[in-house]
Amino acid sequence: MTGRQAYDTELMKLLHNHVYGPDTTTARWTNFDWGKSLKAAMDYVGEPYSGKFDFVDTRMYWPITHMVAPKDQALGCADCHRENGRLAALASTVYMPGTNPNNLVDWLGAAMLAAVFLGIVGHAGLRAVAASGRHGDGDDQGTASNPHSQGGNGHG
Ligand code: HEC
Repeated sequence: MTGRQAYDTELMKLLHNHVYGPDTTTARWTNFDWGKSLKAAMDYVGEPYSGKFDFVDTRMYWPITHMVAPKDQALGCADCHRENGRLAALASTVYMPGTNPNNLVDWLGAAMLAAVFLGIVGHAGLRAVAASGRHGDGDDQGTASNPHSQGGNGHG
């Protein structure tokens, strides 16, 4: 990023600036007086100021990653989602999966998964039993011309 900033011509340092304030006599965008706005800002922050200023072209360099950490420092799910993880204090106030092994929501979720699994196994088992008792070519696909050849009575 490029800019033009006020600096102290004696102390050779960049200056603070009082930018905004509709009711003040010093703010730059109300009074349009650099002398007043720089003096007010430097007084406010309490840093030395010679009272003499000029402007300098400045450049600010930012890493292209804009401060995102390298990938080997990226967090994994378990950094937060485990007991006493990074956000342990937060985990006591909001629901975060995996932070409390006795959590009711986790148990309910596991129970639902188990029920779904049992449903699938049961359904497939009944289909297998029904298919083994059926005579014919054993092809479960069916055809458009003879839709009744399909699938047997497998809806158990
Ligand atoms: C920096 C900490 C952190 C990391 C790393 C993290 N999570 Fe989370 N996760 C949270 C927090 C905090 C919540 C709760 C947010 C809320 O309730 O609004 C949450 C909530 C969740 C939820 C529940 C969402 C919901 O709607 O309730 C799931 C699922 C989840 N995270 C999965 C993951 C997965 C998968 C990963 C890794 C790819 C991951 N999290 C990485 C902090 C983290």
